[in-house]
Amino acid sequence: MFLGGRIPPHVGIIMDGNGRWAELRGLPRIEGHRRGVERSKEVIECAAELGVRTLTLFAFSTENWRRPSAEVSTLMRLLELYLEKELAKLMKEGIVFKAIGDIVRLPEHIQDIIKKTEEKTASNRGMTLVTALSYSGRDEIVRAVKRILSAGISPDAVTETVFESFLDTAGLPQPDLIIRTSGEKRISNFLLWQGAYAELYFTDTLWPDFSKEEFLYAIQDYQQRERRFGSVPVRPNAR
Ligand code: IPE
Ligand code: IPE
Ligand code: MG
Repeated sequence: MFLGGRIPPHVGIIMDGNGRWAELRGLPRIEGHRRGVERSKEVIECAAELGVRTLTLFAFSTENWRRPSAEVSTLMRLLELYLEKELAKLMKEGIVFKAIGDIVRLPEHIQDIIKKTEEKTASNRGMTLVTALSYSGRDEIVRAVKRILSAGISPDAVTETVFESFLDTAGLPQPDLIIRTSGEKRISNFLLWQGAYAELYFTDTLWPDFSKEEFLYAIQDYQQRERRFGSVPVRPNAR
């Protein structure tokens, strides 16, 4: 696959709209989640082929724990099945798997599979696939503050760099492009600190319908953006 122009090194995706996709078809919401997992697999493959270095998928938020328990447990089951079935593929494609979020809230057997998947893929050399699970930006920031206090860091020593090293995303680059599907134009607590200068891309497409073509379209849109980071445009011959 070829796409000219810069490929965003780190893409984050808020995969939204599974429930509505199912409801529109008179199906139970969980069917939308099932279809959503299939879409995630396609997008992971496409991103890796394109040369995206880090892909962060928002799969389950801290707030999603408030959903009916039947939906939560089916989502956990889908996650478990994904991790069990996909390990071989992650290894084959050289993908490094990492989870961010308040992982201790997940069922213990899922925490174990996450740990095993992280360990087994740690020395791979390809794209890093970050899955945000039981994650919210505010919760991550509060947990980072707690860790800083427990480490006895003095107020004068706290810089942006030091702070970042206490976030779940320590060592990962900041996202360049954040995509949200399903027509909602909000961030919903995703990568609040890290996404300060991310380019945002919103599409009405529901996640279970989000195709590789649409992913490429989002990247092409990103390629048209002029990123200034608060400075002035860099233009040849400008005085
Ligand atoms: C996104 O789809 C998946 C999760 C949040 C787990 P939703 O389940 O939020 O689908 P909608 O927004 O209700 O359509
Ligand atoms: C955001 O979607 C979280 C995930 C995609 C995992 P939600 O459906 O939970 O967000 P809101 O409720 O529309 O803001
Ligand atoms: Mg939603």
